[in-house]
Amino acid sequence: SVIHRADYRPPAWRVPELALDFDLDPAATRVRATLSVERGGAHGEPLRLDGEGLTPLAVRVDGVAVNDWWMEGERLVVPLAGDAHRVETEVEIAPDRNTQLMGLYASGGNLCTQCEAEGFRRITFFPDRPDVLTVYRVRMTADARRFPVLLSNGDPVGQGELPDGRHWAEWHDPFPKPSYLFALVAGDLAVNRGTFTTRSGRVVQLGIWVRAADLPKTDHALHALKLSMAWDERVYGREYDLDVFNIVAVDDFNFGAMENKGLNIFNSRYILADPDTATDYDYDAIAAVVAHEYFHNWSGNRITCRDWFQLSLKEGFTVYRDQGFSADQGSPAVKRIEDVRGLRASQFPEDSGPLAHPVRPEAYLEISNFYTATIYNKGAELIRMMATILGPQSFRAATDLYFDRFDGTAATCEDFVACMEEAGGIDLSQFRLWYSQAGTPRVSASLEHQAGGGRATLRLAQHVPPTPGQPVKQSMVLPLRLRLFGAQTGQPLTDEQLVLLDQPSKTIVFETVAERPVLSINRGFSAPVVVESDRSPADLAFLSAHDDDPFARYEAMQQLMLDTLVAGALGDAADHQGVVDAVARTLDGPDLDWAFLAEAVLIPSENFVGDQLAVVDPQGIHTAREALRQALGTALADRWRALYDQTGQGAYTYSPEAKGKRRLRGVALGYIAASGAPDAADLAFRQFEAADNMTDRQSALSTLVNLGGPACQAALDRFYTRYAGNALVLDKWFQTQALSSRDDTGAVVAALARHPDFTLANPNRARALIGAFGVNQRAFNAADGSGYRFLADQLIALDRLNPQTAAKLLPPLGRWRRFDAARADLMRAELQRIVAVPGLSRDLYEQASKSLE
Ligand code: ARG
Ligand code: ZN
Repeated sequence: SVIHRADYRPPAWRVPELALDFDLDPAATRVRATLSVERGGAHGEPLRLDGEGLTPLAVRVDGVAVNDWWMEGERLVVPLAGDAHRVETEVEIAPDRNTQLMGLYASGGNLCTQCEAEGFRRITFFPDRPDVLTVYRVRMTADARRFPVLLSNGDPVGQGELPDGRHWAEWHDPFPKPSYLFALVAGDLAVNRGTFTTRSGRVVQLGIWVRAADLPKTDHALHALKLSMAWDERVYGREYDLDVFNIVAVDDFNFGAMENKGLNIFNSRYILADPDTATDYDYDAIAAVVAHEYFHNWSGNRITCRDWFQLSLKEGFTVYRDQGFSADQGSPAVKRIEDVRGLRASQFPEDSGPLAHPVRPEAYLEISNFYTATIYNKGAELIRMMATILGPQSFRAATDLYFDRFDGTAATCEDFVACMEEAGGIDLSQFRLWYSQAGTPRVSASLEHQAGGGRATLRLAQHVPPTPGQPVKQSMVLPLRLRLFGAQTGQPLTDEQLVLLDQPSKTIVFETVAERPVLSINRGFSAPVVVESDRSPADLAFLSAHDDDPFARYEAMQQLMLDTLVAGALGDAADHQGVVDAVARTLDGPDLDWAFLAEAVLIPSENFVGDQLAVVDPQGIHTAREALRQALGTALADRWRALYDQTGQGAYTYSPEAKGKRRLRGVALGYIAASGAPDAADLAFRQFEAADNMTDRQSALSTLVNLGGPACQAALDRFYTRYAGNALVLDKWFQTQALSSRDDTGAVVAALARHPDFTLANPNRARALIGAFGVNQRAFNAADGSGYRFLADQLIALDRLNPQTAAKLLPPLGRWRRFDAARADLMRAELQRIVAVPGLSRDLYEQASKSLE
């Protein structure tokens, strides 16, 4: 049954306090819950408690067993006479049979929980909704040898030994919280401890808990945690509020990590790192996710969401905050480039496809399906636009106001925007459309100039395409940072200005412009839109060399490459020389930032080219892209060699400079291979063998996998043997092969799905193979439909174990409108086959059926 935002009602009963008592055992865990409940206002409603797969073994009211309760579907309903009662329930659950990884489950012999969004109801009966805020006291009893460590939210308040080899621990969290933030961990874990002293002098005990063997891989995460705590004090004035902060890493996890109060639980891939097993990309992701979850303590926990339609209130804002943190650790320009590339790769396609939804959705069938790039990443862009419009000082005043006014409450997106308005002294009524209208706005920009120092006229127009359920759109507020540069002198002709395009169209006049101007627009990607301009290839090349905004330089080069690739894919004569010259100029330019150079010269992905075409031609795009790669590789062969040598380093170090060099070295190796150089495989294999870090080893392996041949097989075998038993690294082994550009990738992936190390039970492994294959545009879209059939088979199998993770991997099949009729028919047939599966989950059903509409 579909849930609508408009149907929100405050909870009928509040639960100010909850005592939980767990008798932990993987096969049969007893859960006793004691809820103090209070009637919320004058009404005669009974107490309704959510449950999923639970059977009440006992129900007591004020200490007395009762039997006048009943079930409404999966809900337990208890009639209550007075306005305040103590209600106790008892259930038994089996963590070791929980393959969904929601609620209490077993991972690697330990027990852990995941409750967001609606997993708590799989543990105990409770009003499992984010606007019921409760103070938790948690007692755990377990076998002391199997589960020596017992953790929960808040502060530890007691522990002790029991006869028969069992022990107990009790935790108390003084901060009222919604049930989705509950967490418990029981296991055999080692800890890397640290401390952080807050600016008001609170000494916080930090702990990163992992398997003993993984302890040496936790320093980076611990360091990132300390940096995050200091950053949030400095940049947002937010201090930590408990005496302990624990993070636990588990191998089986449905997504990245979870911000449970005082006890974050992480996918181990976002904690464990050492140079031999983690790439620079992994190191950055770990710091970003550690920061993200830590920042949730204020944006999510102290202030939570009234209902799940407000999810972006905490996620969009927290992503914006973690992006700011990461930008401050290294190069803000490179960070912005990475974030925009991610937005274009995941959110733009979502926004133009069958699963498009507003940042604040109106309805859902399964809330887990709304943990999307739109809620997270587009949501972050909304916050960024408000920050841009307000300016840094007003924005900080607005977030202070928000944290102050809504602390301890369950708030809405509207509450947040109202604080921005109040502190900024501005009217954001029209801006609110960003929360309600789906779809990526398109902006057209054309610039005219009267020769001889006359006026320049910039014409801007916007259009928001229709999305499911929203055929007609209103004009939005698009904050566009722009600037003009002189085509002759290369000098700026104007200051940068912020234009708010809030009408269907707008004309901006610049008087007495001395020379022909070139338009730099949407600088820093100030609005998450698609810009269509009439800038010539020469102008784009000019901007790629002269723009003073690094993002705009990158963007101009990307557009130049994209135009070339689109022309090539459409079978038009593609002018490679323009791109070659622009790349040469960038490489020869005065930039010293290796990472920026690497980004600037990298050509757009096959998927991104596909997104520009009315009908995606996977083979045509691949051919056009390989041709441009080859042209760049060949024409600039000397430069790639020189860079490759220049970026070779002595022993591994971890610094922005060293990371940038490794990134550029990987790009250079890719171009050397693309040029068809006969020694490319040797070079890559030598790098693979000599590497003292995973970044260099992985980039060599990717190159070899694309080249194929004996060196490829040798490298794959050595990699596999070297890392046998290391699940996170084996994921890379699977993923690299699934992303291969080779012709036989479909067959390779099908074979890998039968490999003894492949399992659908572990989400990381499933994503490494199935998820990566789904975004390999050419391999997945094989004309015979074998890729579609493979994905559908895997999703149907995975759905029986883990519906959430299955549903997340479905979107590639929903792209059928973007392809030729033959492929579209094949994809639709697979979607229909999925929808028809008896007993399909609500998760996968919602995604598949919406994709067919
Ligand atoms: N709140 C977590 C985070 O963003 C993610 C929870 C995802 N939950 C889900 N049902 N997909 O850090
Ligand atoms: Zn989050």
